[in-house]
Amino acid sequence: MSSQRKFFVIGNWKMNVDKARINDIVKFMSAASLDPNTEAVVGCPSCYLTYARQRLPEQIAVAAQNCYKVARGNFSGEISPDMILDSGCEWVILGHPERRTIFKESDQLIAEKVAHAQQTGIKIIACLCETSEDRDTNRTEEVLFGQMKSLAATITDWSRVVIAFEALWASNTGVLATPAQVQEALANIREWLRVNVSEKVANSTRILYAGSVSSSNCRELAQLEDLDGFLVGSAALKPDIIDIINARRPDVSSLIKHFQRSTARQA
Ligand code: PGA
Repeated sequence: MSSQRKFFVIGNWKMNVDKARINDIVKFMSAASLDPNTEAVVGCPSCYLTYARQRLPEQIAVAAQNCYKVARGNFSGEISPDMILDSGCEWVILGHPERRTIFKESDQLIAEKVAHAQQTGIKIIACLCETSEDRDTNRTEEVLFGQMKSLAATITDWSRVVIAFEALWASNTGVLATPAQVQEALANIREWLRVNVSEKVANSTRILYAGSVSSSNCRELAQLEDLDGFLVGSAALKPDIIDIINARRPDVSSLIKHFQRSTARQA
């Protein structure tokens, strides 16, 4: 937990929204009191980028969930970083675990996308992931460091990059990563940055955790030393995302209880 890195929460809607659902989410996010110390972003399907941008409060940024590695051309079905920026959105998620595992995007393709995105000025949430096979075969470090190496080779401006680590084995599987497991992975990634990029980048780059983050586990995880926020999937579709955005804000109900206890003692 570092004061020099602003807490960051992205609620990734994946392919789970339509206009009606977006309207619902916009409604509860607009009505909520959001911690101004958190940078809040939503990950939106490409066809709704403009729709979501026009409806969400300004302090909530919008990210596309993927993009291609060139500005334009004959690449049916793809969108470019320029198009995302032109839709009024500032962020793109690259290398999401679902892109890596379901759509077989390689480290090399993801690195090429990151390289092009960096040239356009768009901000990037670059994802790393660990599968259950990686964990079971003790290959976690090798896999994460391999992904980091290939990303880092193409990053020229770290101030526009956030790293997200997803424990895929803890995403909608009923198994939760323990705070100690999360801290260990994030600390390893930060150490990798320190050794292979620079002390400055290691200290200033935000590293997020993903994998079934919910309103029940976010407060404890938010206190971890090397954690700077969350990439959230299922809970991003529900008002729970508000609690996650506010995970570092003092809990009002416990403050009220504390106040009631101390006034009772004084009486
Ligand atoms: P989850 O998804 O929070 O539902 O585990 C996270 C993600 O894959 O973006």
